Amino acid sequence: MTINTLGLVGTGAMGRGIAQIAAQAGVEVLLFDAKEGAAQEAKTAIAATLSKLAEKGKLTAEQVSAATDKLKVIGNLGDLAPAQAVVEAIVENLDIKKKLFSELEAIVAEDCILATNTSSLSVTSIAAGCRLPSRVAGFHFFNPVPLMKIVEVIDGLLTDRAVSDALLALGQRMGHKAVRAKDTPGFIVNHAGRAFITEGLRLLGEQVAEIHEIDRIMRDVAGFRMGPLELLDLTGLDVSQPVMESIYNQYYQEPRFRPSNLAQQRLVGGLLGRKTNRGFYHYEGGKISGPAEALDEAPAPPLATVSLPPLWISQAHPEFAKAVTDLAIQIGAQVETGLRPSTKALCIVTPRGHDATTCASNQGLDATRTIAIDVLFGLEPGQRRTLMTTPITSAATRNAAHALFAADGSKVTVIRDSAGFVAQRIIAHIVNVACDIAQQGIAAPADIDLAVTLGLGYPKGPLAFGDAIGPKRILDILDSLLLVYRDPRYRPSPWLRRRALLGVSLLTPES
Ligand SMILES: NC(=O)c1ccc[n+]([C@@H]2O[C@H](COP(=O)([O-])OP(=O)(O)OC[C@H]3O[C@@H](n4cnc5c(N)ncnc54)[C@H](O)[C@@H]3O)[C@@H](O)[C@H]2O)c1
Repeated sequence: MTINTLGLVGTGAMGRGIAQIAAQAGVEVLLFDAKEGAAQEAKTAIAATLSKLAEKGKLTAEQVSAATDKLKVIGNLGDLAPAQAVVEAIVENLDIKKKLFSELEAIVAEDCILATNTSSLSVTSIAAGCRLPSRVAGFHFFNPVPLMKIVEVIDGLLTDRAVSDALLALGQRMGHKAVRAKDTPGFIVNHAGRAFITEGLRLLGEQVAEIHEIDRIMRDVAGFRMGPLELLDLTGLDVSQPVMESIYNQYYQEPRFRPSNLAQQRLVGGLLGRKTNRGFYHYEGGKISGPAEALDEAPAPPLATVSLPPLWISQAHPEFAKAVTDLAIQIGAQVETGLRPSTKALCIVTPRGHDATTCASNQGLDATRTIAIDVLFGLEPGQRRTLMTTPITSAATRNAAHALFAADGSKVTVIRDSAGFVAQRIIAHIVNVACDIAQQGIAAPADIDLAVTLGLGYPKGPLAFGDAIGPKRILDILDSLLLVYRDPRYRPSPWLRRRALLGVSLLTPES
């Protein structure tokens, strides 16, 4: 079915955005809001937005008037009778949405589609209040709708496939990538998004690194636009914490999504983020104003001022050892070649998933002289490098390693012991959660990557990220994390384990 007349109920932030892109795609939109005057206000606001786009040269005057003409304000729900589909973007309340849909069923044609923009309610439960639940589907957009070019089309348990097919086609016509997803908590994007934030909070809770250090590593090493704690400040804990709690509980306390007491404490303390000028960071005039160490990075100790012992580099991961050896020689360090370190050597280990302590202990090294370096994301000059101490690494070892690895102008962050450093842990967790979304058949593997890239702005889709690092390496990291923490949070998804063992891409669907 091609939808040419769309009803839009609820003209707040989301409803306006959906109406705008539908009208721009040439669909007639009937705008209704329970609040008097709100639908007209929405039409005026959309027209102003379109005019601004024309001023910027992004639309012609003809396109603006054609789109504006498609918007029709209606005063009664009954005026939705001609709609071929109705999208609701009203208050996020199950009973109110069910009541609206059952009222609509008495108004619209038998084949009219009823779509919900809900983020957190079950589409199946909204449909349960309808005479014809097969006509109900999710049509989940992201804020701001015109800029977030993705829509999840959600099949409830009883949704007729022709209904979601029609919405997929409509979403594409509206200029968005439309992906099909099963009705499950968080659908694709909000489900996949749990990994980045909860693992960032976990690292903070373990005192592995400071807030700004975790964020810097995720930006500079892993290529994210912002780190997990900056992101929480941007979204606001009043929004994020309830979502974390809700998805965790809807999945019956799935440890992969376990929320953090650190976020809950800030929430109740009113440290919500940017909107209260105080969250994980301090803000003034919309910009980060503190703490001081978040603004300016402390310089590394100059190489000339430290006493640099010879380096002994662990061969546990030969390709990583070679990269560190090449770099050390380039910087002018003396590298030992013996199987065992001399009594003076600074011992460098290159863990994949393990912590520095486990490496020192397994390899019989003096932990006071041992330091770990994360090689997984490369050691290119100028790129941030992460070093990791054991709980008893000496200050002299730490300073020498910091000076050495910063000597070519690269930034260095020294963190406390953590299985998987910062970036390895967070990325492995993101990949694993996405693999489990695929394992549950919530969406096709390519659609998971598409939805996450467009919905969350990650540098790569999570499955492609896993492929770039190597599924076997991600599996090793998770197995090591599981060993160190004995926490089922890190249990690898069967989707990941099987594809890693078979040596195939994580995007490989079931045959
Ligand atoms: N804001 C987001 O980031 C976002 C993202 C994705 C999905 N959503 C979902 O979209 C929906 C709307 O969100 P929003 O942020 O635009 O909300 P909003 O509060 O800005 O707008 C809701 C509008 O619905 C109207 N309304 C409320 N009850 C109504 C009823 N019974 N009948 C008709 N109109 C009614 C209100 O007057 C208001 O204009 C929610 O279900 C929300 O979960 C929101």
